[in-house]
Amino acid sequence: MTQDELKQAVARAAIEYVVDGEIVGVGTGSTANFFIDELGKIKHRIKGAVASSEVTAERLRGHGITVFDLNEVDSMPVYIDGADEITPQGAMIKGGGAALTREKIVASVAQKFICIADGSKLVDVLGKFPLPVEVIPMAQSVVARKLASLGCEARLRLKDGKPLVTDNGCYIIDVIGLAITDPVALEASINNIVGVVTVGLFARQGANVCLLGTADGVKKLEF
Ligand code: 5RP
Repeated sequence: MTQDELKQAVARAAIEYVVDGEIVGVGTGSTANFFIDELGKIKHRIKGAVASSEVTAERLRGHGITVFDLNEVDSMPVYIDGADEITPQGAMIKGGGAALTREKIVASVAQKFICIADGSKLVDVLGKFPLPVEVIPMAQSVVARKLASLGCEARLRLKDGKPLVTDNGCYIIDVIGLAITDPVALEASINNIVGVVTVGLFARQGANVCLLGTADGVKKLEF
């Protein structure tokens, strides 16, 4: 099976977690896109969705799914999203698609985080994938220096030769070369750096379930 077929398989499996008549939180990325396409097929069963990015909102609307502003929603049963890396304990690196802050905000309102990922995303120790950190633009240099003092490389993410600008008008610094053995502690300490909006570590509030696409079928991990 190709990586896309594995992503499609977990996207289909995630439909089982969608609660009829409710609002579903929807992530960002290629796996989330497959999920949105599946959600479109059962859109009559749900009230609508909250999107974790502008691109996800656009895709949801393209399927005729009502997109709610998070300020109109007190709680939702599930948030469904991909990950760049996930551990057997359910801690994740997210933000490869630069949507980490809105992803973390929407996930915080959901009762359960359902992670959908192909098997290549499962790792024992987080950090091979560059850790994204969203920063206020005027703080990019000072934050980069503080991150580099952790003994890693801190690189501003570029798009077409210019700093990539997130949906929140901020920048992303990718942290390269960290072996993250204590993700909960690192999440707290990076979030504490002045100028950081959010770090793409989802450990204090990680996944509750991971649907992992493998050659032997979709495996379910519960945390
Ligand atoms: C976007 C994310 C994505 O969930 C993550 O990058 C995984 O993407 P994909 O499903 O394309 O592999 O965090 O900010």
